[in-house]
Amino acid sequence: MEVENALRSIAGRRYLDRILKALALAGERRDPSVFYHLLSFLEEGYYGWDVGVKRDFQDFYKFYQQSPGISLPEPLEMSGVDVFSVIKRRRSRRVYSIEPVSLEELASILFYSVGVTGQAGWGGPKRVYPSAGGLQPVEAYVVVGRVEGLEAGLYHYHPGRHELEVLGRGDLRNRLFHACLEQDHVLYAPVSIVFTIIYPRTAQRYGVRAYRYALMDVGFAGENVYLVAEALGLATVAVGAFHDGEVCRLLGVDCEWEYPMLVFPVGKRVGD
Ligand SMILES: Cc1cc2nc3c(=O)[nH]c(=O)nc-3n(C[C@H](O)[C@H](O)[C@H](O)COP(=O)(O)O)c2cc1C
Repeated sequence: MEVENALRSIAGRRYLDRILKALALAGERRDPSVFYHLLSFLEEGYYGWDVGVKRDFQDFYKFYQQSPGISLPEPLEMSGVDVFSVIKRRRSRRVYSIEPVSLEELASILFYSVGVTGQAGWGGPKRVYPSAGGLQPVEAYVVVGRVEGLEAGLYHYHPGRHELEVLGRGDLRNRLFHACLEQDHVLYAPVSIVFTIIYPRTAQRYGVRAYRYALMDVGFAGENVYLVAEALGLATVAVGAFHDGEVCRLLGVDCEWEYPMLVFPVGKRVGD
């Protein structure tokens, strides 16, 4: 009965039957993901229902500091490599040189994965990655160990200013390694980029459908990381296996409105 009441409060009478069916199927398959995926069927994709998300997530990116942060070099204009061959050669690469990554390389990956490249007709920013409703849920943090010209520490990328905001000092790679289930590539990479999504940015418009959209948005940004790394002779891999709570604590985010999604260790490539 309590469950039924909870469902009624999420969905109202209209959808209750469908939700109970989805729940039954999830139980039969012993897979809760069936439930949340079937829930996302309930809105077909435009201006979803009100999921009780506060509608005050109007920003398109976070900024921590009013004052300027560390300005990044301009992203490289050319990689000299053809886009088709980059797509064909892309691989997950888990071995990195101990050499530091250059600031220009880091700046290029950040810019070409989540950077601002223009302005929409209605005034908001346009990004390098496509985003459902132009709502741009992806945030990028950087855990720096060895990057030329940058102290070890935790940073947030401010895409509007193409700057890094300092969130913490010291080498946090060991903590990130433990948070990522002790995957060696996370420990040894000179730098890791962590993508989160600020979920209500998308949910405030798309309701239950938003879960699909926000995840796809971060996937598009993630493919950009792979392709830019490949084009610049760097190495990276998408890491989706981690303890969410530990990553949230490391980044200083709440795990309720903002969810960590992917970690990209990055380093110079060793071998092919
Ligand atoms: C969403 C996602 C999560 C992943 N998580 C991990 C991970 O935690 N650790 C890892 O070593 N590789 C991870 N990978 C990389 C995959 O193992 C890799 O893409 C796959 O083996 C195919 O190899 P390829 O990328 O070289 O084509 C992940 C990839 C994706 C797309």
